[in-house]
Amino acid sequence: MTRIRFLSADGIAVQEVDAPAGERLLDVAQEAGQPLEGTCEGQMACSTCHVILAAEDFSKLPRASEEEEDLLDLALHVTRTSRLACQIVLTEALETLTVRMPGGARNMQGR
Ligand code: FES
Repeated sequence: MTRIRFLSADGIAVQEVDAPAGERLLDVAQEAGQPLEGTCEGQMACSTCHVILAAEDFSKLPRASEEEEDLLDLALHVTRTSRLACQIVLTEALETLTVRMPGGARNMQGR
């Protein structure tokens, strides 16, 4: 089980959910009502599932593929710890994960 902390783009809104190993971060985020479109449903053909990970969590995960890196280059507000949520699969070893929504997500406005 991984405890995931979702932070809004401004870091103010926090939501914590538990999710089992094997789940994709994108699915967990969407089920929790986080504003990730994930338009291509994990086909790596969009970048609307872009999230920003806490630095310590970023280094715990397997590296992004070249394809993922290329797509991230196209996303807005990319940081050094950005990933595509559809490419992150939870594992037992991952106890916690802190995930921030990138700036500019439409649903986050007015918070
Ligand atoms: Fe499209 Fe992740 S859902 S790249």
